Amino acid sequence: MSRSEELFRQAVELIPGGVNSPVRAYGNVHEVPRFIVSADGPYISDVDGNTYVDYIGSWGPMILGNNDKRILDSVVKAAGKGLSFGAATEAEVEMAQLVCDLVPSIEMVRMVNSGTEAVMSALRVARGYTGRNKIVKFMGCYHGHTDAMLVKAGSGVMTAGIPDSAGVPAGCTQDTLSAEYNNLDSVKELFDSYPDEIAAVIVEPVGANMGVVPPEEGFLEGLRAICDKYSALLIFDEVITGFRLSLQGAQGYFGVQPDLTTFGKIIGAGMPVGAYGGRKEIMQLVSPVGKVYQAGTLSGNPVAMAAGLTQLKILRDTPDFYEKLNANGDWFYTEMDKILTDHQIPHCLNHVGSLGCVFFTEKKVKDYVTAKTSDTEAFAKYFKYLLTHGIYMAPSQFEAIFLSGAHTKENELKKTLEVIDACCAAIK
Ligand SMILES: Cc1ncc(COP(=O)(O)O)c(C=O)c1O
Repeated sequence: MSRSEELFRQAVELIPGGVNSPVRAYGNVHEVPRFIVSADGPYISDVDGNTYVDYIGSWGPMILGNNDKRILDSVVKAAGKGLSFGAATEAEVEMAQLVCDLVPSIEMVRMVNSGTEAVMSALRVARGYTGRNKIVKFMGCYHGHTDAMLVKAGSGVMTAGIPDSAGVPAGCTQDTLSAEYNNLDSVKELFDSYPDEIAAVIVEPVGANMGVVPPEEGFLEGLRAICDKYSALLIFDEVITGFRLSLQGAQGYFGVQPDLTTFGKIIGAGMPVGAYGGRKEIMQLVSPVGKVYQAGTLSGNPVAMAAGLTQLKILRDTPDFYEKLNANGDWFYTEMDKILTDHQIPHCLNHVGSLGCVFFTEKKVKDYVTAKTSDTEAFAKYFKYLLTHGIYMAPSQFEAIFLSGAHTKENELKKTLEVIDACCAAIK
């Protein structure tokens, strides 16, 4: 029995499902999670001495590759001065200034400890600002595990959201309305029904939690126009896309400005960090200046700020970082697509820059319903082949592949394509 198997046996007795977050479970792919000991650059290593090319990157934060020495040094330096003060620090001011400088739609920002918290807080601010209760979200978009966002997909556009988790009272989701991704008519219908009741539309500007689903031409612009027409706020959940697609996130990449933005992942460089921000006029509603209460003992933690600041500054100061990363993404996913086509494997390959995903379906995947047509058993076979040949991808059809600046065309990406080629020959 491998050490990962041994640890998993212990873990399931002690931790629900043996994991501290469900995405880490390998149940869907009929495997045991690999227990990780270290990660470096584009690689990650498990307790059994296996090293893999890492395409998870801690689910997005490690855009420079794992264990970047410059980030590590800044963390060690900050930790040496104290792990937490629960008080205002210079690093927080620097972080706020940097975010406001980099992202034009943001004039004021509040740091929190996770993407979930950022979304929960942004929704509260949107409700406080508009004096309205209803929120429109899109089926297949994930916004963390705050009660109001845990609605059943496919609950129907005209009805109140039905909780998708035990423990979420119906009252918490009754004001959450579900629309279809890439379908502006479904959003218009909701606004027709509730013209004065919708506080905000929240969207992942690139769907990255139903696999990767890019916004179709005009979708984000259409959301902007609808929100303006009805004086509702547009919230971009940029927990994945923020500082990934460009320094300005998806809003810079697509040229559409939201009213509020949520961040997580890259902004903390692997430390538990989230943030939300927007125009001053809206953000000044947040306590202690305004009436919308939001707080956090460890928010703006000095060690976490050091990590995030170092990563953001490197991204800002590295010439052509995003051009190169996105070009590598374009090349890698195009080659992957060709290999699957050559092997006549039914698939749909979606990608935006460094984010990508292969769906095992013949349908064009543009929303949750089409994403769900994927053959998850075919995915499981593909996943297992890759894992046993040194490639570490997310153990779910509905997660993204994350490329980092440490993955090179000549080495890791080329090697991965060779494994995918062999995999296609083996599994078809
Ligand atoms: C788009 C999006 N929003 C929010 C979250 C929640 O973030 P966290 O897991 O840090 O709470 C995630 C997590 O993956 C996400 O992808």
